[in-house]
Amino acid sequence: MTDRGFSAEEIDTSRPHPARMYDYYLGGRDNYEVDREAADRIIEIAPDVVPSARANREFLRRAVRWLADNGVRQIIDIGTGIPTSPNTHEIAHAVSPDVRVAYIDNDPIVARHADARLLGTGNTGFFLGDMRDPDSILGHPTIGELIDVRRPVALMLVSVLHFVPDEDDPAGLIAAFRDALPAGSHLVLSHGTSDFHTGEVVDEPLQIYKKSTASVTLRSHAEVTALFDGFELVEPGLVQVPLWHPDGPAPAPEELRRVGLYGGIGRLMERNA
Ligand SMILES: C[S@@+](CC[C@H](N)C(=O)[O-])C[C@H]1O[C@@H](n2cnc3c(N)ncnc32)[C@H](O)[C@@H]1O
Repeated sequence: MTDRGFSAEEIDTSRPHPARMYDYYLGGRDNYEVDREAADRIIEIAPDVVPSARANREFLRRAVRWLADNGVRQIIDIGTGIPTSPNTHEIAHAVSPDVRVAYIDNDPIVARHADARLLGTGNTGFFLGDMRDPDSILGHPTIGELIDVRRPVALMLVSVLHFVPDEDDPAGLIAAFRDALPAGSHLVLSHGTSDFHTGEVVDEPLQIYKKSTASVTLRSHAEVTALFDGFELVEPGLVQVPLWHPDGPAPAPEELRRVGLYGGIGRLMERNA
């Protein structure tokens, strides 16, 4: 299932795009000169952006496996990013092929690659949408076809909310999704923070992102925790992403120091509980 609603002309190569810069950090090839220039400048000032991006992607993999292992069968993955294997549905289907995944991103480059890499296995769909407009996402026909919102859903906002500034009310946006979902649903979040880096290592990259199509707002542990309002954080809570259910031994302190992202999963409690 795909709603194209875009054309190749919409691929803007005049400004860096966060989706394509992230693809570059991950070693992908779906990026343009303008993205590589901005990303290289950031890597020069703040080389930790590369291990942070990789650690985030690994968090996504472990989080989706956790969801599927814990019985989640419906996922809405907003801010999908340029397909990077294993993608959400591939991870979930390795546990249970009946997991349904609706992918949403606001960048046409993601739509361009969705057919080949996100769709075609059944049980998945993609459409262009903006998380700042929850009604248009929840009311989209692809959601209607794939997701039964009367049953628990996992809402994934992995490395996307830091592209939503305070004036767009990220907590209010999450609440709008939360209030449309039943108890037992989950929220998967990862979010950039400056809790572990200071000075130009933080300021310069923020300036570079300001010139891209979406600026970045880094948030503290307390601010990201507040975004889980109404959800109960599952163990181990909101932690730097490598610390969230690591596959092997806990990462070394010098590796951890390099990762400026928090991640966690919350479970939606009964209303008035
Ligand atoms: C850093 S990538 C994260 C990709 C993937 N979720 C991951 O963690 O590996 C952020 C993605 O969020 C998308 N994005 C940014 N703002 C968005 C918005 N308001 N609505 C939907 N997608 C958005 C970008 O286009 C980009 O693809």
